[in-house]
Amino acid sequence: MRLIFLGPPGSGKGTQSKLVAAAVGVPHISTGDMLRTHIAADTDLGRKAADLMQAGDLVPDDLVIAMLTDRIAAEDAGDGFILDGFPRNLAQARALDESPAGTVDRVALLLVDEDEIVRRIAGRRCCSQGHTYHLDDRPPARPGVCDLDGERLEQRPDDSEEVIRKRLAVYRRETEPLIDFYAERGLILEIKALGSVEHITQQILEAVRA
Ligand code: AP5
Repeated sequence: MRLIFLGPPGSGKGTQSKLVAAAVGVPHISTGDMLRTHIAADTDLGRKAADLMQAGDLVPDDLVIAMLTDRIAAEDAGDGFILDGFPRNLAQARALDESPAGTVDRVALLLVDEDEIVRRIAGRRCCSQGHTYHLDDRPPARPGVCDLDGERLEQRPDDSEEVIRKRLAVYRRETEPLIDFYAERGLILEIKALGSVEHITQQILEAVRA
């Protein structure tokens, strides 16, 4: 199974793609998480990405494509993978097509309206390991502390209202054209991503297994 998750910031790509990856037994590969790991480790790539991510801009294609194609060539991705946050524009989609491991079986497109996106992102809190909560909908057992590793929960630096608007504009301009790109191949599965997390996961699993 080689599945891409497509959708605006805050549509639930990270939440759903991790659950679906665990259910189908392939690795969850998030370019956002990989870049945040580089930033935390203060690598060359992390230093190049940090300001761009904080401003809501895309990291340059050559850097992200090299990082992603290395990752999907790893042994654990031999039977498939779930991509969360890649591709993000047509150049990245074409690079994925050209990579030896890059054939795509399905694209799950998460549909959520803009008011709900802003509500979800405003309430999101994460620990440094990328475990994600929502203050109202998925609160941790102890306020401000990750249930899984006891780390402090914080707001992502790119989750301010101003940067959310920028990220949404970048999504519309750069990423939305991928909907037609994959629809022409008959790969798009439209998922109404409202309601409980569990219900949405079930919908996605039914659609990809049909
Ligand atoms: P990335 O980390 O990929 O961020 P994003 O695409 O903007 O998506 P988000 O992580 O904001 O949202 P999500 O859809 O995963 O939602 P989530 O599940 O967390 O990228 C960040 C940055 O990295 C980019 O801006 C760019 O700079 C760079 N980057 C990454 N990939 C790149 C690439 N390929 N090329 C270039 N640059 C790249 O859910 C959101 C909230 O809602 C959470 O609090 C969650 O608990 C809650 N929630 C989820 N589902 C539900 C539900 N059903 N009901 C209620 N609440 C819910």
